[in-house]
Formats: sequence, C-alpha cells, structure tokens
Amino acid sequence: MKNDQLMNLLNQMTLNEKVGQLVQLATPFFKGASDRGQITGPMQEMGIKEEDIRNTGSVLGASGANEIINIQKTHMEENRLGIPLLIMSDIVHGFKTIFPVPLAIGCSWDLPLAEKSAALAAKEAAVSGVHVSFSPMVDLSRDPRWGRVMESTGEDTYLNSKFARSLVRGFQGKLASDSYKVASCVKHFAAYGAAEGGRDYNTVDMSEWMLRESYLPAYKAALDEGCEMVMTAFNILNGLPSTGNKKLMRDLLREEWNFDGVLISDWGAVKELIPHGVAEDEKEAARKTIEAGVDIEMMTTCYTNHLSELIEEGTIKEEMLDEAVLRILKLKNKLGLFENPYRHASEEKENEFILSAEHRSTARELAGKSMVLLKNESVLPLKKDEKIALIGPFAASKDILGPWSWGGSDADTITFEEGIKTKIQQEQVLISEGCGIESGSQQQLNEALEKAKQAEVIVLGLGEHSDMSGEAGSRSNIKLPEVQLELLKEIKSLGKPVVTVLFNGRPLDLTDVIKHADAVLEAWYPGTEGGHALADILFGDVNPSAKLSMSFPYSVGQVPVYYNNYNTGRPKDAPDAQIRFVSQYLDAPNEALFPFGYGLSYTTYHYSDLSLSQTTLTPEDHLKVSVKVTNTGDTAGEEIVQLYIRDLVGDVVRPLKELKDFAKIKLQPGKSSLVEFTISEEQLRYYHGDLTYESDAGKFEVFAGPDSKNLQSQIFELKK
Ligand code: IFM
Repeated sequence: MKNDQLMNLLNQMTLNEKVGQLVQLATPFFKGASDRGQITGPMQEMGIKEEDIRNTGSVLGASGANEIINIQKTHMEENRLGIPLLIMSDIVHGFKTIFPVPLAIGCSWDLPLAEKSAALAAKEAAVSGVHVSFSPMVDLSRDPRWGRVMESTGEDTYLNSKFARSLVRGFQGKLASDSYKVASCVKHFAAYGAAEGGRDYNTVDMSEWMLRESYLPAYKAALDEGCEMVMTAFNILNGLPSTGNKKLMRDLLREEWNFDGVLISDWGAVKELIPHGVAEDEKEAARKTIEAGVDIEMMTTCYTNHLSELIEEGTIKEEMLDEAVLRILKLKNKLGLFENPYRHASEEKENEFILSAEHRSTARELAGKSMVLLKNESVLPLKKDEKIALIGPFAASKDILGPWSWGGSDADTITFEEGIKTKIQQEQVLISEGCGIESGSQQQLNEALEKAKQAEVIVLGLGEHSDMSGEAGSRSNIKLPEVQLELLKEIKSLGKPVVTVLFNGRPLDLTDVIKHADAVLEAWYPGTEGGHALADILFGDVNPSAKLSMSFPYSVGQVPVYYNNYNTGRPKDAPDAQIRFVSQYLDAPNEALFPFGYGLSYTTYHYSDLSLSQTTLTPEDHLKVSVKVTNTGDTAGEEIVQLYIRDLVGDVVRPLKELKDFAKIKLQPGKSSLVEFTISEEQLRYYHGDLTYESDAGKFEVFAGPDSKNLQSQIFELKK
C-alpha cells in the first residue's frame, strides 16, 4: 500500500476502530484460537466486548500456522475495513528449536552465530505465522539476584550493544524484502535491569549520566540497526513508571533519537500506573500513557475504555491517536499484511524448517560455544573408556531449555544423559538423580552413592529449575539449593574425581561448588541440543571457548559486582593504601570470584608483546594495538582476545577499564597469532558531567588479555 492509501484508510476509520488498533490482546480472546501460547502476568476478567475484539489491532502469543491462519481469516471477515492483525510473540532464544538462553549466548562472544540463531528463530516463527518478536531484550544487568539476567547478554554496555545489533539483524534482516524475517521489538525501555535489590518490577533510580553512559547504548544500538519496535519497562525510572514517562519516550526516544516505529507497553503496564500511584484510575492511566508516547497497550483496557472519551471531551487531541494508528498501519504495511495477511504462515513450511538438521546443528554449535569452563583440575576432557556415574537432578532432566522457551518441547530436547550415551557405551554410564532440585531423600542419596562407588569419574548435573529465574524469578540467595550442595559434598567424600555441570539462569555464588568439585562447567540452559553439546565438550570433541559476559560473585553480599567499576578515592590496591580506611569488605574480596571475560579451555594461551603503533593519537588518525597470542597447550582451541581501555583522567570519573573490542581466533597447538586492534578517538568518547559526549585529551591505558583481570597494558596519549 502506498502512503496516501494508508492515509485514506485512516480517514475511513471511526474513533473506536482507531482505538482498537492501539490494543493488544492475548490469543484466547480471538476466534480460531486453540488456546495455546504463553500468558504471563495477571489475566483478569477484562470485560472485553465482541466489537472490541473485531477492532483489535494485534495479538499476543499465538503460534502455529494453522491457528494463526484461522485467527487472521476470521478477523479479516469480521473487521469492517479488513485491517489485518499483527501477530506478536516472545521469540527470545529460539522458537521450536531452542538455542541457549541469551546470557549464555553472550558468553559465546560469537556475533555471527548469535545472528544466525536469531535468523533461524525468525524463520521458524515466520512460517508459523508470527510477525513480530518481542526481542532482543538488552537490559544491562549487574545483579544476579534478578531472574531476568538470563534474558540479557550480560553486564557490559559494549558487548550488549554488539549483540543487540546482531540479533536485530538476525530477526529482521531487510524486513520488507527478505524472506522469513520478523520485526524485532527491543525491550525493556528503560533500565529494567537495574531494579533495586534485583527484585523484579522494582524501583530504578539512577542519574541521567549513568543512564546514558551505561544503560541506554544497547537500546540505541538496536534502533540504529533498524529495530521496528520498542517495549516499555515495568520499572519506575527516577520516580516515574517507564510506561508513563514522557521524558523517556517523547523527548528521548522520539525527539532525540528520531524513533518513528511502534512503541508498545509491557503486559498490563498501562494499568499498573494505578498501583504505582501516579494515576487515579484507568482513564488517567490511559491519558498519561498516550501522552507519554505509548502506541499499543498490552493486555489491559485503559485505551479501549477511555481513549475515545478523552478525545471527545478534548483532553487528548485526535491527531495524537492518528499518529499512533498510522505507525501501526505502516508496520503492517511494511510486513506486507495488506497484500497477504497470512504472510509466511504455512504448515508445509513449518514441517520443512522447524527443528531441521541445520537448525539443530546451529543450536548444538552455539550451546557448545556458550558453556564456560570455570575450573578444571586435570579431569576434563573425560576419557571415552571410563565408567561414569552421571548423578544429580539434571542428569536426565528435560528442564534444560530455560525460561522463555514456550515454543520448545520436551519431546525434542536432548537430555544430558542422552547426549553422554551418544559418545560411549550405555553400560559405561550409571544414572542416578541423587536429589531433587530443592529437596531429596536419604534413599535417593544412598542410591547415588552406590552408583558413584562403581564409577571411575562422577559427573554431577546440578542447578536451578527454570522457574527459579526468568520473569518474576528473583532470588535473594544465589547459591545452589542446600540439598544439592550436600549431594556434592557426599559424592566428593568418595575421593573420586568430580565434575560439576551447572544448569542455571544467573551467575551463582559458587564458593562451595568450587571447593568440592575438581572441574566445573557452566552449561546455563543450553536448549534443545543441550545434551549433545555437553557431550561434545565433556569428551573433548569441542574445546570450551566461552568467556563470562557477567561476573560471578563470591557472595550475594558483594552484589552488584562488575568489572568496569570506578576506583574510588580510597582504592584498596593503591601503593599507599592504608590497612583499614580503604574501600573494601572486611570479610570478602572486592573482585568477583570469576570476573567478566573469564573462561578456561582445554589448552592454554600465552599473551606477549603488547605493542602500539604509536604512543599518540589524534582525532584524525588511528592507533594500532597488537598482542601476540600463543597456544601453549596440546589441543587446538578458539580464544577470545579482549581489549580494554582506561581513561586515566576525565571530566568525571572513568571506569577502571572498559571493553572496547575483542577478537575470536583459532589456534593450533604451538602456533601463535598477532592479533591487531584499531583504536580511534571516537572510542574514547563518553558522557561528561554536563552530558556532552566527547573525548578528552590526555593519557589512556590500553589493556589486552584473556579476561578482564589478567591483562597487559601500555599507555598512549590523545592529542586534540
Ligand atoms: O515480552 C514480554 C515481556 O518481556 C514481559 N512481560 C510479558 C511480555 C509479553 O509476553
């Protein structure tokens, strides 16, 4: 449809029909629905009328070509002007083929593979009839108590921004012309990851300086990549719910960033202005939200029941409604829905693409690249002729897809046990649960000990069940449940080598695990092909290469602990530091147990010869940093070489180091590679106290190394 045709359509719409476009309802409301799909949040009696459904603009959570074709067909027959529905869903880390959770993907530092995973997810979703994916979620998070850290790629602004772009590219491509793409909706705007105490939906209060410096860039990166939609956040930001925050949406998103796509609320977030205490009733919530710039209200009826009235009484101008409606119509048009409301929905294509060999092998590869080896006292890789006891609540569990994998199914999931059994003889593996996730019996423990006694090496599958993270999955204790730690201790007391494999959605306090296990592999929730990927790693067919994209604390008391913190006026490690009056804990280190960027391999790497092409940089030229990396072990491997920079003196305080670039290299044993990075003035810019974004002349320290802690450095100077 041409623009003037869209305008023409808009002009034919009644007030109620326009308001309907701004409403999103879950699948069960629509004729033709089979009642599938995930529903989160409160679903109350909403008093929706038949006419409202006919006018509704979009659907949430529908899945499957058959269901979506049925819903769309009925809707096209019943909607007076034949305006198709937009079908939106949470395709967070795969649709039916489930990839590892985003936090795990973050640990792969593999942007092309992340992009491919999003492209394959989009393909499965598109042929199932979905038009918009509620992803990527790019909320920077430094607090592992927050259950939704598993949905983000981690704690770093630069890495998250890179992933944001790759994921948007994967989902959307060139939306209007590429086949099997879906529109992307970046979320949750803004700073949802900074909820106080890691408690979901909780307060966020931060300076605009911090917001711009650390939290906003990943949303901006997604939009720079052309992301079509933005979802608001549940949290308040500096006193105002994000969903009713005009400064955030009209001023920043629309005016400053020129975002002209569709802005949707999170589920129920419009009505939540009432319990937040900034709206007296639904009518005021509707007014504040539309004024703040939200186009679509998800799953509450403030717009449905009050927008027309607000316009008729003159409180809201009809042009404001028209602008929102037009943005939605434009997205429908871009997706080609006016020409073909069913778009790619096809049962035949579902059968062809979903869980195809290519999709499964990509899921397996990405899972293998996401698992972080945290400790290895010469136990791994396992030998293929040994007898193994595979013990623990995750030994044979199907619960390895992780939160936000509602399209995935147990039947398609390769468990840990199944994966192991593809590598060695069935008789070589003894399986026992040992305990449940949060409770267990003496009988379970005894049985596990018996099996363990018969084995040469014990592999424990421990972790959190998937409801312990994800939305509303905050925890104040981030250790493994006590019963699993007991199991680990008992097993260790047998004196045999113990490998612990962890399935979880957040950085945990692993101090007890590290004490008792000889090797620890962080497998996260590895997805549909998890069991195969694990077996690849444990038997050495794949050499671990992942590095943490979020720090693991010593204890919950250290949280938030992140690598790019500030020095303070009393740094603990200063040459003249006092014993007591320095910034420190009396009972714990300041640093993380496992820092950002950390991860072991079955081989070892030596870093040397860090050198700079020149010691001064100007805005007109570039500086080359090179570092030699040698594979000093006897296994081929892939290494993630990291580059950090510190601005030694700034207008405002600058982090001790900030990730600025990285490279993934493959090295055969004994071989070296000279890895080169380019630094330009642009990378040295930051937000000053007055919120100008620029660099300062002066000295900088540049670091290179295998993680954020073990680094070599050199100094250069920026001259302006
Ligand atoms: O997309 C999600 C969001 O991340 C959390 N609330 C529900 C939405 C729709 O399912």
